[in-house]
Amino acid sequence: MPHTVYLFLHLAGVILLSLSIGGNLFARKAGETKPPKLVSALHGVGLLLLIVAGFGMIARLDIGWPFPIWIWSKIAIWLLLGGFNTFSKKLSLNTSWILAIGLFLVVAFLGVFKPF
Ligand code: HEM
Repeated sequence: MPHTVYLFLHLAGVILLSLSIGGNLFARKAGETKPPKLVSALHGVGLLLLIVAGFGMIARLDIGWPFPIWIWSKIAIWLLLGGFNTFSKKLSLNTSWILAIGLFLVVAFLGVFKPF
């Protein structure tokens, strides 16, 4: 598949994952014990799109082994966002929002600027 298709799928993953994390936090605010099924489904689909399209772009951009640090950092943040709905229950809602926004901004920065 061409790079542009992977990029589109990667960005689709960003959108779905961020909607899902936002939806999860709103469900928590509303006092729900579990988020709606759609919110959980979007979380899984978003994460899957991000990792598959991420590795697709790594191949298309000829990024070889060993991967640069920005890729490892993105994989680490991907894992953190994967566990976000679980571990953020221990944090206040405000802290959860700030952390989620911060993680998304850092991971987008890494993808655009590839600083190291
Ligand atoms: C939560 C996780 C992630 C988010 C929110 C995210 C977001 C982004 C964004 C916004 C871009 C910039 C796209 C552009 O240049 O137009 C990008 C680029 C990129 N991401 Fe991710 N990403 C995530 C995880 C990953 C993972 C896990 C990998 C690798 C396995 C990865 C690999 C890449 C690559 C290779 C690029 C460069 C694309 C290019 O230069 O054309 N990303 N990412």
